[in-house]
Amino acid sequence: MEKIRLLALSGSLREASFNTSALTALSLLAPDSIEISIFPLHDMPLFNPDKEDESSPLVKDLKAMLASADGLIIASPEYAHGVSGVIKNALDWLVSGHEFVDKPIMLINTSPRASHAQASLREILTTMSGKLIDSAHVSIPLLGAQLDVQGITKDSGIAGALKAGLGKFCQAIRGEEESSTTTALMIIDMQKGMSWPQAGIRNNPNAEQDMAELLAHCRQQNQPVIHVRHHSTEPDSLFWPEQEGVEPQSAFLPLKGEKVVVKSVPDAFAHSDLEVWLRKQSIDRLLVVGVSTNNSVESTVRSAGNLGFNTFVVANACFAFEKEDFDGQHRSAQEVHAMSLANLDGEYATVIKQEEALSLF
Ligand SMILES: Cc1cc2nc3c(=O)[nH]c(=O)nc-3n(C[C@H](O)[C@H](O)[C@H](O)COP(=O)(O)O)c2cc1C
Repeated sequence: MEKIRLLALSGSLREASFNTSALTALSLLAPDSIEISIFPLHDMPLFNPDKEDESSPLVKDLKAMLASADGLIIASPEYAHGVSGVIKNALDWLVSGHEFVDKPIMLINTSPRASHAQASLREILTTMSGKLIDSAHVSIPLLGAQLDVQGITKDSGIAGALKAGLGKFCQAIRGEEESSTTTALMIIDMQKGMSWPQAGIRNNPNAEQDMAELLAHCRQQNQPVIHVRHHSTEPDSLFWPEQEGVEPQSAFLPLKGEKVVVKSVPDAFAHSDLEVWLRKQSIDRLLVVGVSTNNSVESTVRSAGNLGFNTFVVANACFAFEKEDFDGQHRSAQEVHAMSLANLDGEYATVIKQEEALSLF
């Protein structure tokens, strides 16, 4: 896939600007296939139509970068219910050029309460014949959150919203269709016992962080969440109902209205109302994360695929434990995980990574 090159403009010159921080964080969060260049507007001359023919090197650079960019990202503050002079000035230099026409545009609003400037900015961009990509619009409460660039990249909800917006923007640039599909996030067996040393040696130490990011994003997009829990029938199990190990981990507590499925075999579809519930909710797509890849995840995903659900497994948001194979050979957690994903991919489900998973909502 060809690299996508995006130009980004911040409408704030403030050193600790939330808008500039959001763009910088986005450039760090972007996968290698997407390059985001933030154009500095600090020294842009004031727009003067008399000087358009002899425009400054900075203006020339801005026009050249815009011409070669696949899309434009703008994050700009609201000042006195209007757009900032900084962004308006930059846009004024671009009004009469050809570079702007039909250019896909993604807007980031770092203060959801600031609606006047966003509306005005949209009007300006549309008048300039830019192509606003509504599905890629991101509204994040940075002003209240007081996060710096690192903080933004680590905040699962905000980073997830930025990455999802970027994913949708790139989909639109590539001409891929937008979907209005209902996608449910299914979190399997994320109970306290799974995090105890007795559970074994595992892979993917960042899986919980990635799951939390997907969960925050799924909730933000008002998509359904399904929490699957294992209750063992064996009293010495970490998942025996009458002890702490069976409880859900605090990051994965269900909210009111979210579906909870309790099972005592690896497959969440067996002896449960899960299939009927999914069909009643008209859920078209399942995004599966959790533990362990080769056990409850694999078993549940095989059933989901066999029952005809369009199922995706997020490789980085699942994990497995090391074990011996039938011949007594030690297999690392990563080997177990990788082999299980290989069993599923293309047969029962599609195995994907975090970026793609975020763009499914
Ligand atoms: C002069 C001035 C006027 C402002 N007017 C508004 C406003 O009308 N509405 C609003 O929601 N925020 C307003 N704000 C708050 C800014 O939007 C907020 O400080 C924002 O974080 C600025 O963006 P930055 O962090 O990227 O610099 C104003 C801030 C300043 C400095």
